[in-house]
Amino acid sequence: MQKFVSGSDAVSAKNALQSVRGMNDLLPSQTAQWQHLEARLRAVAARYGYREIRTPIIERSELFYRSIGEQTDIVEKEMYTFTDNNGDSLTLRPEATASTVRAGNQHGLLYNQTQRLWYTGPMFRHERPQKGRYRQFHQFGIEALGWSGPEIEAEVICLGERLWAMLGLNGLRLEINTLGSDESRASFREALRSYLSRFKNDLDADSQRRLDRNPLRILDSKDPATREILKGAPDLHDFLQKAEREHFERLQALLSAAGIAFHVNTQLVRGLDYYTGFVFEWITDQLGAQSAVCAGGRYDGLVAQLGGRPTPAAGFACGLERLIELVSLAGERAPSSQPDVFVISEITDLDPESVKISETLRDHGMDVVFAFAQGSLKKQMKRADLSGAGLAVIVDRDSVAHGSVLLKPMRDRGEQVRVPTTEIGEAVKRHLKRAHE
Ligand code: HAM
Repeated sequence: MQKFVSGSDAVSAKNALQSVRGMNDLLPSQTAQWQHLEARLRAVAARYGYREIRTPIIERSELFYRSIGEQTDIVEKEMYTFTDNNGDSLTLRPEATASTVRAGNQHGLLYNQTQRLWYTGPMFRHERPQKGRYRQFHQFGIEALGWSGPEIEAEVICLGERLWAMLGLNGLRLEINTLGSDESRASFREALRSYLSRFKNDLDADSQRRLDRNPLRILDSKDPATREILKGAPDLHDFLQKAEREHFERLQALLSAAGIAFHVNTQLVRGLDYYTGFVFEWITDQLGAQSAVCAGGRYDGLVAQLGGRPTPAAGFACGLERLIELVSLAGERAPSSQPDVFVISEITDLDPESVKISETLRDHGMDVVFAFAQGSLKKQMKRADLSGAGLAVIVDRDSVAHGSVLLKPMRDRGEQVRVPTTEIGEAVKRHLKRAHE
């Protein structure tokens, strides 16, 4: 049986438990920044009429085989899949588009309806961890279901661009492409396979493996020799039908009208099989090898593939760890999570007065930390200072005797004053207001 260590033993023991590799704790010093980001995600989603959906973290493995595709890196190598006590194969979601569509079908949200949905939460992929790439990471995603025109694609892009503006990010580059219809893609796939087969032995190992089953993914290879070969490869856009080309042109006109800069990258493909038509990525050169901050596209076949009525759809997901990193690099200071008031007490035995005072201040809507009279007044004062509180309330021996307390503005913002306990709420409010002026 496993023996658990606890308390101070846990710190010194050689076998102190660590989190799973690639899965991070978010500490109190970091969560304020995450909450700040999450507030902006909610705000931008609301600005465009998207509503939140929350789906389970665990789904049947089949959902991902049938959506992401059995021959993708995610399904072949990266999923956390296990068999539960009933013998069912379950998987920790590696992304949430499939879950959103599954839920939409299951609850009749897509039947003769359009839906603008968003989600955020942890996703799991067993990739090799490095800066910006984790095994548990978080995504914010939007999914617009029920629209087939370029207008919704432009809206999805506008929402992303507005989010970057709200976050103060301006170094992101938008790359777009269209994969065309299944038929155009099938003819292109054959042409690409036949071209690449001539260089089979010079391709990298992954690309050789993909040549027969999924040659489009080779366009994504980072291997220099393969990239060189790809320079002479057929162009997907030469295989597009007239209507597909026009759709893509209309989208570009909409983006230009919205003042959005973009680059058409005809070799942009995605690592998930459900995409049809428009695909895109926002990339950065600020995060080393992990350049994709946000990515998505159209997936008109997925709803039907998962058992629903054919429904056009488009969306994206961004990696929140990557966004947080970019926001920090842009120099935004993490917002503080400081209390308004720190209550310090000289009464070392039972101290109902300080408890009452703290509760009264909370009744007045203030965030209050009570130090439980631990250590000397000087030590407690030091802690009050570190907490970032605007004001210390000091409960000394006189307080109990005379029904009053001391208010000490922090960071040299004025003199210490004594106020009657009965007026503490209003007095503290006045002082904090003054400190903010
Ligand atoms: P994806 O390209 O697999 O697309 O992931 C979207 C974003 O999630 C990436 O651009 C990246 O920022 C972040 N991400 C992916 N893997 C990791 C990782 N291991 N560590 C940190 N961040 C990561 C999707 O997931 C699609 N569901 C997007 C979509 C929504 N398409 C249509 N609707």
